[in-house]
Amino acid sequence: MNVLVIGSGGREHALCWKIKQSPKVKRLYCLPGNGGIARIAECVDIAADDVNLILQYALNKKIDLTVVGPEASLTAGIADLFAQKGLKVFGPSRAAAQLEGSKVFAKEFMRRRNIPTADYKVFSSDAQALEFLQAAQFPLVVKADGLCAGKGVYVCADLKAARTAVDEIMVQKIFGDAGDNIIIEECLQGPEVSVLAVCDGRHFLVLPTSQDHKRVFDDDVGPNTGGMGAFSPSARVNVQVLDVVINRIIEPAIRGMYQEGNPFKGVLFAGLMLTQDGPKALEFNVRFGDPETQSILPRLQSDIVDIFLAVCDGRLADIKVKWDEQPCVCVVVASGGYPGKYQSGFSIGGLDKIKDEDTMVFHAGTKNDGGTIVTSGGRVLGVAALGQNLEAAAAKAYNAVSKIEFDHMFFRRDIAARSSKQKVASP
Ligand code: AMP
Ligand code: GLY
Repeated sequence: MNVLVIGSGGREHALCWKIKQSPKVKRLYCLPGNGGIARIAECVDIAADDVNLILQYALNKKIDLTVVGPEASLTAGIADLFAQKGLKVFGPSRAAAQLEGSKVFAKEFMRRRNIPTADYKVFSSDAQALEFLQAAQFPLVVKADGLCAGKGVYVCADLKAARTAVDEIMVQKIFGDAGDNIIIEECLQGPEVSVLAVCDGRHFLVLPTSQDHKRVFDDDVGPNTGGMGAFSPSARVNVQVLDVVINRIIEPAIRGMYQEGNPFKGVLFAGLMLTQDGPKALEFNVRFGDPETQSILPRLQSDIVDIFLAVCDGRLADIKVKWDEQPCVCVVVASGGYPGKYQSGFSIGGLDKIKDEDTMVFHAGTKNDGGTIVTSGGRVLGVAALGQNLEAAAAKAYNAVSKIEFDHMFFRRDIAARSSKQKVASP
């Protein structure tokens, strides 16, 4: 088979790495890919949301299966376009991708389907939002409706912060049209976990749980990022909690989308908060998480292509999937300044020194510059390792990270630490 992966992050490197292991795969392509992906797949610099060009490429290369990483390609309608041409694609339709593409759509859907989530109101005028805020209780959360590349959510401690959020989103329009509507919602408290389920429209397969570390610095200090590390499984989601998540959130979402005429095919990623009143959905994403995927896929023992094909053919209920019992920890190595401004183009040393078994270096913001791998993004690498327990997996991942060097490199030293009670010593 010829397989095409869309995207350029650590998530896509992990997908390519796993797909490459399938005996079914003859050729692997990735658009646009990165410095690490280019070592295992043919990469061409076509943007992930340039869906018409991607379609032409897929037709030319006789692609049998396309796996879509980023949400922007999905909300741009890549799955619909490919389906019209009879091409197999793993990822939801544009209509189903609205679960991530519009927070208003997602919240209204959750309310309709009785899925536990924070109480909320929708506003389409800044004046009305500000009037509501005058009488509101704090803290609360202000969110832009549309895609904001992981930004667009403001957890506001007081009226001043909430006014600033409304001003930035609705008046200054720092996220463009994504801020035409906003949501103001109740601020929930509790630990956050991610539950991802692969779905074929009617059936679903829950992947092992994982936990992301969103804040940029140790001990969850500093601004939110795309994710500074992840581990799987999450001890916070025991069998009882998972049961509630599946029965109250995942299953009603899949059934609801099916019944409303937008069957969900792809990965449904539920961002959850475990509150005192039980698990509640903070958001849905319609794609694999990054870096959650880099901590989940190393645990997959079955052929991932079989899973993707079963989704495309609507026969997910027929397949069995095996997972490694060993936990996996992924540490993100980033460039100084991220998630704000950072410089690029620093050469990355030490990659060839990492030879440990069960340790994977997934590239994110890297590119091949005349034979040298250099940094080209904020999140540069994700170093993942399997181990007998979380502590051992984290130790292996950090041992590999210690061999890597580039100017202004930094990483969190407490990935999985609170769960394994082990923190890497600061230098
Ligand atoms: P989202 O993109 O909706 O997941 O929001 C990004 C982050 O903002 C989440 O991972 C949470 O840490 C935080 N957040 C979002 N909604 C809420 C909420 N209702 N209460 C508390 N924190 C929230
Ligand atoms: N790690 C969070 C996300 O992929 O959205």
